[in-house]
Amino acid sequence: MLSLSETIQPEDNSYRPPHIKYQTPEGFDLMDIMAFAEHGQPYEYFHTLRAQAPVAWWQPPSDIDVAGFWSLSRYEDVKKCDLDAKTFSSGKGGILMGYSARQQGPKRLSGAALNSMINLDQPFHIPLRMAHRPFFTPDYIAHLQTRVEDEVDRLLDNMEAIAKKNDGKVDMVTNFSEWLPMYTLCEMLGIDEKDRHKIVRWMHYLENAQYIIGNPDAKVSPWFIMKFLWNIRQMFNYGQKVLQDRRKNPRDDLLTVIATTEVDGEPMDQSYLDGSWLLIIFAGNDTTRNSLSGTMRLLTQFKDQKQMLLDDPNLVPAMVPEALRLVSPVMYMRRTALAEAEFSGQQIMPGEKVVMYYGAANRDPEVFQNPDQMDMHRNNVQDHLAFGTGPHVCLGQRIANMQLETAYKRILDRFPNIEWTGKQRHAPNNFVNAISHLEVDLGIQ
Ligand code: HEM
Repeated sequence: MLSLSETIQPEDNSYRPPHIKYQTPEGFDLMDIMAFAEHGQPYEYFHTLRAQAPVAWWQPPSDIDVAGFWSLSRYEDVKKCDLDAKTFSSGKGGILMGYSARQQGPKRLSGAALNSMINLDQPFHIPLRMAHRPFFTPDYIAHLQTRVEDEVDRLLDNMEAIAKKNDGKVDMVTNFSEWLPMYTLCEMLGIDEKDRHKIVRWMHYLENAQYIIGNPDAKVSPWFIMKFLWNIRQMFNYGQKVLQDRRKNPRDDLLTVIATTEVDGEPMDQSYLDGSWLLIIFAGNDTTRNSLSGTMRLLTQFKDQKQMLLDDPNLVPAMVPEALRLVSPVMYMRRTALAEAEFSGQQIMPGEKVVMYYGAANRDPEVFQNPDQMDMHRNNVQDHLAFGTGPHVCLGQRIANMQLETAYKRILDRFPNIEWTGKQRHAPNNFVNAISHLEVDLGIQ
């Protein structure tokens, strides 16, 4: 099977498109992860982009060896790009803003980041995606839901115990939002309970390393680098051992599906095995985490919406898509044009990169009236693009919705007076809307 990590070409940071229709407005640098730590998603700037430069060219500075790109901020342009996988390929790196020619981090890590379904085009993408399907059906999700409900109750007990010692206040991210998705993903994959704390540790290392690499002012100690490399090695060794074991001793879990899937009549090689189990964790973890935290923030800001849910908990499933539209946990996906194309009058040439800003599309006033308002009764509440659309549309969207619905039904039932206190922090991340701390008052006194 095509090895993306072996075939990907170094990106050219000096390329400039022959025709640029719109001048890129100043005011925010979409490539500067520290700017996201300060502000979260730049909604004001997205409004400016949509109005003045809906297809804006981003030229990387000469010391960053990744390709420049077009940013799309209008709903119709983002949708058109995501739906047209024939013209817009994921196969040259779909989930990062750039793939540097210089090796960043261990080779096995960059290989796993590229070699998975999210970066595949046809004919390889669909068979690999289809193989995962039994773990994403409504029947499977209903079966998983009872376990998720128990875990929500356990986490809420824990939060309450902490809050009782702290004036009713507790950090929702570290005590709830970062645990529930990890629990759900481990249940689906079939990770043994005794190993789960290791997965949590490895994900922390990966997230911290990403922030450190992207922050030019960060001081990295040799001790951190040593621990990071050791942990990453442990993570890959663990995955390799478990997947080998599943080939010999299959179980009814997603790891067994990944271990035994054949593409083009061949079992997947080690790099795709690494990429496939890690994709499930990367894709399902901080996305759901940030939706859980971001929804709490919204329900504090839009008290009328929270009151509607308290009056009628059956409205929770209508609230979830509206919260996802406003939070837009995944900020973007990237594509590479394979043929000439056009968005909002801007010509796109073959080989050029296009980045779809879902958070900008989801607040496009041409599609969502009063886009910054939360309104679970808007008539197009399901039309948001937070899960993308087209052939790569989020495979885990039902799993994410189920967790959000279960969590919010139980949170509001148990703590009707819960509120965000206004204290929060964002991690330096321009790919995921990363809320790293969110203090809530459970309102239990
Ligand atoms: C609120 C939570 C989530 C959000 C906002 C989200 C968002 C996204 C987005 C935007 C994409 C790319 C879509 C595109 O390119 O058109 C995607 C793909 C994907 N997501 Fe999610 N996701 C979430 C939760 C999950 C969960 C819980 C899982 C797994 C259990 C998951 C697994 C995947 C996979 C495997 C893909 C790649 C699909 C493919 O390439 O065919 N996601 N997701």
